[in-house]
Amino acid sequence: MKRMIGLTAAVCALSMLAGCSGDTASESTIGVAIYKYDDSFMTGVRNQIQKSAVDGEYKVDIVDSENKQTVQNDKVDLFLTKKYPALAINPVDRTAAGTLIDKCKNANTPVVFVNREPLAEDMKKWDKVYYVGAKAEQSGEIQGKMIAAWWEKNKASGGDRNGNGLLDYVMLTGEIGHQDATLRTEYAIKTLTQEGVRVSKLAEQTANWNRNEGQSVLETILNAGTNAKDVDVVFANNDDMALGAIEALKAAGFFGDDKSKYVPVVGVDATGAGKEAIKNGTMYGTAYNDAINQGKAAYELAAILAKGETPGADNFEYQVTDGRYVWIDYKEVTRENVDSLQ
Ligand code: BGC
Repeated sequence: MKRMIGLTAAVCALSMLAGCSGDTASESTIGVAIYKYDDSFMTGVRNQIQKSAVDGEYKVDIVDSENKQTVQNDKVDLFLTKKYPALAINPVDRTAAGTLIDKCKNANTPVVFVNREPLAEDMKKWDKVYYVGAKAEQSGEIQGKMIAAWWEKNKASGGDRNGNGLLDYVMLTGEIGHQDATLRTEYAIKTLTQEGVRVSKLAEQTANWNRNEGQSVLETILNAGTNAKDVDVVFANNDDMALGAIEALKAAGFFGDDKSKYVPVVGVDATGAGKEAIKNGTMYGTAYNDAINQGKAAYELAAILAKGETPGADNFEYQVTDGRYVWIDYKEVTRENVDSLQ
């Protein structure tokens, strides 16, 4: 008997070295790959995943994909070699998710995608593929409604800065190809038009979700033609770009004593810095992108899948739509309710 136990221990130790299924540390770890660490919103999601793991049944091994799909593919390969029982992936390129799904399916490892939605046809490749995110359309609608109400109230009293009867707007978009960039842009303007606002686009340009790029892109736009005189509103697909836009506007004399030099700037996320800007009156509003519930849902779902269970009302506190999607709502944030947000 004693000998047998010794032998088992030796086999276990060997298999742990080889990283095969005898590795109990691997069995209780969820592999998490984030598209890049240097992203304000995803840092919020990542921190929540880490926090959920502290109280949860599974540990997490979180890695930075450094905004390179090739790096992420290698990290996912490593997770699969380690035989982690489930993965959570925030893809670098959402159109590359199909390849990742194939890898996971071959290894029979369930996978939860987060924040960057794989194409519908890829989601259908296997039944152990899930997505946790927010409906991008909703955030665009929130921005559109917020600005339609603002325009209604202010257009006759200086809001229409050049008096042409049109809402002259600038749009800073997120990374090209990201569903949030495409749909936020589309739905913000669609909603304004549906609310009866006549709009005129002065400029639309990507600033890749990035604050510094947002600033330099807006600087260039404000210096072109009569844009600085005409602009009535700046839309940004996220708060970081909105904050960059605010810096550029400040440098061009906006938000000072001259009341004719005010434009509302709206973002998405409600990051810490975004909320501060709403409080100090430079950012008009934002759509709260709930990093806490997205992180929590991703972790809890991955843990359920790791156990070999299927999420349902008895084991999962979030609703699963169409058998594979978990949608977390956005919420309008302005000066009125910013203090009530966590
Ligand atoms: C957020 C952005 C973030 C992006 C990353 C979006 O949902 O609003 O702030 O940069 O996700 O994929």
